[in-house]
Amino acid sequence: MNICILNGSPKAGKSTSELLIEYLSAYFGGNETVTFNVCKTHLSEEQFSRIQNSDALVFVFPLYIDGINSRLLRFLIELEKRGFADKSTLVYCIINNGFYEGRQNAAAADIMKNWCKAVGLTYGQTLGAGAGEMLPFLKNIPLGHGPNRNLGIAFRELSRNILSLKCGEDMFVSPNWPRFLWKIASSLKFWYPRAKENGIKRKRLKDKVS
Ligand SMILES: Cc1cc2nc3c(=O)[nH]c(=O)nc-3n(C[C@H](O)[C@H](O)[C@H](O)COP(=O)(O)O)c2cc1C
Repeated sequence: MNICILNGSPKAGKSTSELLIEYLSAYFGGNETVTFNVCKTHLSEEQFSRIQNSDALVFVFPLYIDGINSRLLRFLIELEKRGFADKSTLVYCIINNGFYEGRQNAAAADIMKNWCKAVGLTYGQTLGAGAGEMLPFLKNIPLGHGPNRNLGIAFRELSRNILSLKCGEDMFVSPNWPRFLWKIASSLKFWYPRAKENGIKRKRLKDKVS
């Protein structure tokens, strides 16, 4: 079985999408799996052909403004233009977002459903994971345990569906960790340091856009 994983994070350094790909790949054992980073590299004809001839395509990307980022969009348009001679490929997605609620990814999952209709492929399933920037801090906790409990259960179902080329209901998960603790931890560990790195004061983060 040919599985093709497409990393759609435009982030310069390490991304949560990369971590989610690591989690997913661990389920694929002896299957032929390739991963392409579609936001950072120009793919060769051979790589496009590999994508167009996959049994399963798995898009792994972050939520940007309740939708998909422009680089991934450009890639989707390119792939739509090239088309798929064999329409048997199933499309799956793993979308992660910054806010706590994984449900925020539902609109992006709908965009992918529409793209599948446009190219004539079957939409398989989406896993939407909330609190994305927190996930790398939890990577030493095995999936299915503690704050990664829901994520582990969802990964098990998604990987089972991919390996048997079945469709499933979309799944949206948030960490098994209280929302208020997530807010404190993610602000102190991630958002404030990231703002500082970019020369932005804490107060500015609370400014409302008028
Ligand atoms: C331009 C931009 C827009 C974003 N829009 C949203 C959003 O609408 N909702 C949300 O929950 N997170 C949003 N985020 C946060 C990202 O989804 C989050 O940081 C994610 O974990 C990044 O994943 P990655 O590391 O795989 O790139 C946005 C981030 C950026 C940079």
